[in-house]
Amino acid sequence: MTDMITRIAALAAETAKSLWPEAEGLPTPDELRPLLAVPPDPALGDYAFPCFRLAKPLRMAPPKIAEALCAAWAHEDVASVRPVNGYMNFFLNRVNFAAETMAELREKGERFGASDEGNGKTVCLDYSSINIAKRFHIGHLSTTMIGHSLKRIYDFLGYKTVGINHLGDWGTQFGKMVCAYKKWGKKEDVEQRGIDAMTELYVRFHAEAEKDPALEDEGRAWFKKIEDNDPEAMEIFRWFKEVTLKDAARVYDTLGVSFDSYAGESFYIDKMEPVIQALRDKGLLVESQGAQVVDLSEDNMPPCLIIKSDGTTIYATRDLAAAKYRQDTYHFDKCLYVVAYQQDLHFRQIFRVLEKMGYPWAKGCVHVSFGMISFDGAALSTRKGNTVLLEDLLNQAVEKAREIIEEKSPNLENKDEVARQIGIGAVIYTDLSNNRIKDIDFRWDRALNFDGESGPYVQYTHARCCSLLRKAAEANLPDPDWSALADDEAQSLLRLISRFPDVIREAADKYEPSMITRAVTDIAQAFNKYYYEHRILDGDPAEAAARVALADAARSVIKTGLFLIGIEAPERM
Ligand code: ARG
Repeated sequence: MTDMITRIAALAAETAKSLWPEAEGLPTPDELRPLLAVPPDPALGDYAFPCFRLAKPLRMAPPKIAEALCAAWAHEDVASVRPVNGYMNFFLNRVNFAAETMAELREKGERFGASDEGNGKTVCLDYSSINIAKRFHIGHLSTTMIGHSLKRIYDFLGYKTVGINHLGDWGTQFGKMVCAYKKWGKKEDVEQRGIDAMTELYVRFHAEAEKDPALEDEGRAWFKKIEDNDPEAMEIFRWFKEVTLKDAARVYDTLGVSFDSYAGESFYIDKMEPVIQALRDKGLLVESQGAQVVDLSEDNMPPCLIIKSDGTTIYATRDLAAAKYRQDTYHFDKCLYVVAYQQDLHFRQIFRVLEKMGYPWAKGCVHVSFGMISFDGAALSTRKGNTVLLEDLLNQAVEKAREIIEEKSPNLENKDEVARQIGIGAVIYTDLSNNRIKDIDFRWDRALNFDGESGPYVQYTHARCCSLLRKAAEANLPDPDWSALADDEAQSLLRLISRFPDVIREAADKYEPSMITRAVTDIAQAFNKYYYEHRILDGDPAEAAARVALADAARSVIKTGLFLIGIEAPERM
């Protein structure tokens, strides 16, 4: 079944065509559909079509067009129409709209909004992409959660997705770290304290190198050994990597995040040469102060550095090789790089260089950029300086959620499990609640406010629906009478629900999980409004059955929406 808005678009296009069969340049149903707007005041209609879009092909004034279209409208079973200031305003037939929306929901269940439009297409997603020997800090939360959510969204739309953790596991700093470990490190210490011990070694290396500059050479020599695959150097380096990933795995588990590939920078060491050769063959590599660069002055960008004057490659070189490898291996239609806005220039350069190399697939590379997270300072204790460790944040969130549960629902079973779902959900919700490019100010009182726009609020609404459905199951209700859903509150809720598939598509198009966060919040609010205004289980059983079905629809869409942003939906809280 097609959704209401698609039907309205088709019927409006058809009506225009029948009125003006000769006119050229009338919009097709597909073109007309995105033009349908939602009027700011529901009293003006459920949808409105701006007729000025026909003024040119018809050479008529918009109000005249609106009047003619409305007079010719013959689909009162779908919607009645009214011309308003050059708009054709549609008022849905409420009972039919409820019946149709509910039929579709009952058929699709939690797959409502899923589609196969992505079948045969592949999306690579580069997200989280943490650095070896560094703690997983709060700066990596957004890339992890935006990427994870986009992966779920594209999966839901039928795409094949490849989640890639492009590890930062290459660079001279690793030579220094191995060098420091050889000099001062203790195996048990690194085993016990992991990354903290590695960081200390690195800090010590720099302090000592101040006094003894020869140390720098030693560090470089160790990096050279790593490059040359020297067994001893490699063993230590691999072990550092393992320790880092084991640490990160704990955080990924807590967040429910996973990857299909951990091919990081070091994976591309032997894959750079062909790319450098291709650049050379295409005459794109020029010398600049001893270094090899691609000139991007025509694009108003600084040159893209490919080989440094000491002959070594850099981050950008590896990204070029990675893009090529991903295309050759996965044949992606899109490759999304979920990386903070600080790397805007880097990705503009990389994508431009790929274009200059003549790769048509470069057009499918997209930098999904995002803003920063900050905290309300003192409220968050940190273990180290002012970098907030993600694991600390998540643990605190769970602890705080646990306290709230203790107070609100002391008799709840499996409190620990629910506290985990709520605490983690609160953090993820905050992270995905705004347009991704905006900076985020994380505040506990907001994140864990059960009454505000928050993860717990939406989860609580879901649990409320579940509890209502448990009660309804005992009532043995007959088939629903959809005419019970013609009131304003039910209709607002139905409208939001029926738009949900559009929201998912738009979130994918704009790489914007926050649109789904917004949608589930709106649906939760609309449901709660409905819940307060109507006695769902009382009265005529067939009408009660319709209200229960609506609650089930809200439950299912909220659950799906939360899933798409990476949040769990407890059934009791
Ligand atoms: N490791 C980098 C960082 O933490 C992010 C890597 C992003 N991905 C990429 N292909 N460059 O800043």
